[in-house]
Amino acid sequence: MTGDVYPVPAEIAENALLNNEQYLEMYNKSVEDPDGFWGEHGKRIDWIKPYTTVKNTSYDYHNVSIKWFEDGTLNVAANCIDRHLAERGDQPAIIWEGDEPDQSKTITYKQLSDAVNRFANVLLTNGVKKGDRVTVYMPMIPEAAYAMLACARIGAVHSVVFGGFSPDSLAGRIEDCSSRFVITADEGVRGGRTVPLKENTDRAIEKCGNVDKVFVVKRTGGNINMTEGRDLWYHEEIEKVSADCPPAEMNAEDPLFILYTSGSTGQPKGVMHTSGGYLVYASMTHQYVFDYHPGEVYWCTADVGWVTGHSYILYGPLANGATTLMFEGVPTYPTAGRFWEVCDKHNVNIFYTAPTAIRALMGAGDEHVTNTSRKSLRILGSVGEPINPEAWMWYHNVVGEQRCPIVDTWWQTETGGILITPLPGATDLKPGSATRPFFGIQPAIVDAEGNFQEGATEGNLVITDSWPGQMRTVYGDHERFVQTYFATYKGLYFTGDGCRRDEDGYYWITGRVDDVINVSGHRMGTAEVESALVAHPDVSEAAVVGYPHDVKGQGIYAYVTLMEGLEPSEELKKKLVKHVRAEIGPIASPDLIQFAPSLPKTRSGKIMRRILRKIAEDSFENLGDTSTLADPTVVGDLIDNRQNRA
Ligand code: PRX
Repeated sequence: MTGDVYPVPAEIAENALLNNEQYLEMYNKSVEDPDGFWGEHGKRIDWIKPYTTVKNTSYDYHNVSIKWFEDGTLNVAANCIDRHLAERGDQPAIIWEGDEPDQSKTITYKQLSDAVNRFANVLLTNGVKKGDRVTVYMPMIPEAAYAMLACARIGAVHSVVFGGFSPDSLAGRIEDCSSRFVITADEGVRGGRTVPLKENTDRAIEKCGNVDKVFVVKRTGGNINMTEGRDLWYHEEIEKVSADCPPAEMNAEDPLFILYTSGSTGQPKGVMHTSGGYLVYASMTHQYVFDYHPGEVYWCTADVGWVTGHSYILYGPLANGATTLMFEGVPTYPTAGRFWEVCDKHNVNIFYTAPTAIRALMGAGDEHVTNTSRKSLRILGSVGEPINPEAWMWYHNVVGEQRCPIVDTWWQTETGGILITPLPGATDLKPGSATRPFFGIQPAIVDAEGNFQEGATEGNLVITDSWPGQMRTVYGDHERFVQTYFATYKGLYFTGDGCRRDEDGYYWITGRVDDVINVSGHRMGTAEVESALVAHPDVSEAAVVGYPHDVKGQGIYAYVTLMEGLEPSEELKKKLVKHVRAEIGPIASPDLIQFAPSLPKTRSGKIMRRILRKIAEDSFENLGDTSTLADPTVVGDLIDNRQNRA
């Protein structure tokens, strides 16, 4: 093997679920005989009516269709709860750690069952039916999990909206899937500060209308308005119903959830996942990627508002009967030692977080880590963006004391679960590489024209065939699904990521190759930020690009042209940042704004983003060909006034 290689530690190899030979054997079977392989592994979950067909998928550009286990029926919530009750009714299902270190509680599988059944009955008595969309806009409290599982229990489709999104963004997501029900809380709490979730919900509903019922969980007891006839207190409603709600029999291909995600054009898309294949894939990846052994405490620090929270806080772990930790707070509150203190407090064995958190904590000093024991930790994970080798080494040496393998897991909202990743007992690690494909995943690298590149190479990452966890469509717009993922390279799923493959067949994700930027592991479409900026009356034109940021991975750099006669000022910059936060949410705040009298355009009026990216990166020596610009002189002004200077 070439480069720095970290072999599987002996203590891990001893007890691991799979070694390298087993991985290779299973992988080969999974791609040579997908029907046989998934037909067998599909049985890892409980089916009401067993499937008789396994894979029925087509990547044909004219007829994209993805179905798995299509004649089987099941209930996802019953798989995550009921089937564990006999054996692990008293085992913790969820350990909740609140924002303040003195707040935590444990919810056993029995208690989870009680809460989910009641919530499901509350939804039913208030008119929620199979197939209805229910918007969940919640803080990281156990009721968020109850809400999602209650929907799954009755066959309603949840659409979780991250609590950091603005009322406008929430309204757009409620409207897009014509959801008539919202589940929220009075307020959220993060890092000692409150988030006005109910007030945001009220403002969203003013914009989009059409919401019949709002279920409100009391988190803080803060002052909020309740609208008579529409708003209901969760704690009052659950007292009125029984703790027995029979699970709905759902088809494998019935929708389980919609989750909105940003793309390179237009408004966020409603990524739709279905029931059977998704659960098989989420649970199988959770077990093997984290080498999960029964009884272990597993902690994924994501928010349930993102796909990582769906697949790896909730569905994967609970389908496996695991104990999953749910954290309400932030890594740096009250101190930068919080993560490691929580690991000690709850004896966490498997810890899964994002590179942005690792980089932020790395900067806060090693003593926050070394003051804690962390002896329970066995496996570390990373997700959301490429992990730079420096952060990998710190995670490995300081947090994991060189004992814990790091699984760098590459995947996307669209993929439902992890696609490229090490397996702790099977894969030698290379810092910065997501290493090798999971079972059933056939990655390939193509050039701009779509020609397959063999051996050690670099290009665009595609997947050549389907896997059970793959998204099925864009909610309400199948054509957009086809155009976004299957039109660039006909017959192939295009990931939007660039990628290198080394001599050992290891994959190294290099980042997005489209107009999507990855800010602190969160996807943001540059087009969305641009449309928020131009919605401000002072802005005539805007172009947004990413630039390297020490902690966030990428920062948001906005070039703004003001309306005729307006003068640039620091005050106006602040106004624009505030405006974008209100339109989309704090995660979309531009880090740097450059006022530009004009933007570099081709003679046909197309903005040359390549040039804007280079200037934002502060690497403008080699701007390439600028002769096609309508007015090449604008470039000099942009360089002179650039905001990111080393
Ligand atoms: O660019 C890749 C990056 O995050 C994108 C997917 O973002 P999202 O749908 O929000 O899902 C994030 C959590 C799964 C990918 O297209 N990405 C995700 N994981 C990695 C990564 N880039 C490099 N290495 C990773 N491990």
